[in-house]
Amino acid sequence: MATALNPFIWDRPLDDPSKIIGMEAFANQVALTLKGQTNVALFGPRDTGKTTFTNQLTLELAKDHGAGAPPFDVVKVNLQRVVSIPGFIGCVYDAMTSHPTKGLRRAAQRQLGALEKEIGFDIKVIKGSVKSSAVSPAQDGETLHSQLVALRSVSEHLVVVFDEFQRLRHCPGDPLAIIRSALMSSGSNHVSLLFTGSIRNAVKMMLENSHEPIFGEASQMQLPAISRADFLEYLDFQFQSTGKGADEAALNHLLNATRAHPRSTQQLAWECWANTPAGQPVTLETVFAAHDRLVQTIERSEFASVLNVLVSGDEAEVNEVRALQLLADRGGDNVTSRPGAARYGFSSHSRVRPALVRLQGRGLVDERNGTWYIVDPLFSEWLRRSSPLADRPISDRPLQG
Ligand SMILES: Nc1ncnc2c1ncn2[C@@H]1O[C@H](COP(=O)(O)OP(=O)(O)O)[C@@H](O)[C@H]1O
Ligand SMILES: [Mg+2]
Repeated sequence: MATALNPFIWDRPLDDPSKIIGMEAFANQVALTLKGQTNVALFGPRDTGKTTFTNQLTLELAKDHGAGAPPFDVVKVNLQRVVSIPGFIGCVYDAMTSHPTKGLRRAAQRQLGALEKEIGFDIKVIKGSVKSSAVSPAQDGETLHSQLVALRSVSEHLVVVFDEFQRLRHCPGDPLAIIRSALMSSGSNHVSLLFTGSIRNAVKMMLENSHEPIFGEASQMQLPAISRADFLEYLDFQFQSTGKGADEAALNHLLNATRAHPRSTQQLAWECWANTPAGQPVTLETVFAAHDRLVQTIERSEFASVLNVLVSGDEAEVNEVRALQLLADRGGDNVTSRPGAARYGFSSHSRVRPALVRLQGRGLVDERNGTWYIVDPLFSEWLRRSSPLADRPISDRPLQG
């Protein structure tokens, strides 16, 4: 008998290609760009599928695309928590020694072994909490450099992914110059790089400032949104095939509530699925109730913490709170109107835009086709529900039909 396992995953990047929606064509485009020896910088707001995309891309890169585009190996370095060169070294070490492909993992271990012999100490010393005091910052930089040189020799056709690359902007010790020297100069013609970033301006600054070591070194691309139609079809199919078919109104409301934001849509679908008894359909009422519960969880989330920090901060930070409320209540079409700004407590309507730009730097809001929006749809709804200035009553619901 087939077991009806939860088909929706939202707490980690997806790796099962049958569950990754709508990325095949873009993966092909990016793979061919990388194989053509052009580095790529990929932007996408938080939780919209950058890391998931790199998994789809890995499969695409493994294909033989004909003359000059043989299969490529991929090593992914997760920079999410990196704020120092030793931290960077630790991440590269992890990426190499826990690589999912056995052959590559062994090649990496061989390279690291040779490197450790050469430098005379175990790289785990740097990774470990007890850092040998004999190692100076300059040596850390040299170790990273040698390690990246070791990395580039694990495959003859290699893509190195630096995920959440913008983190390196807070890393002392010139990590970009080290990357450039180890992976972008002579001896690395067989290596292409993919940088992903959730904060567009931060990555742009690293690539577009002529003083930066990697100035102009990558073609910039935006992660495409998952189309509503594709998401609808996927949800319909997944509910159906696990014996909990959803009616059209339920599916439509689900996607309205999340604006088809990748993580939130999966999370809401999961909440609906988990609260529907086996063999029963997912109804509109199920979706309303599930959405309400998820919006309430924002109360205890990082979003609420960030808001608390901002609201007790200086005037500029309080302006960020004002801008968030304004966006949540009124949408992003006319954010700098004078009366609107005054109602939210801005001393001048000219203060709205700088506040939005700072929020964008935090990854909380973004701008698409000239319209600002709060990236996370659940956070946005939570703000709106608690706003004294929201237009619509809290209980409003979209028309059924
Ligand atoms: N292509 C996709 N198809 C379906 N769901 C996706 C896709 N990309 C992302 N998601 C959903 O979004 C969540 C976050 O994805 P992730 O790749 O971790 O985002 P990011 O790296 O941009 O923060 C995943 O757990 C999944 O629920
Ligand atoms: Mg990610």
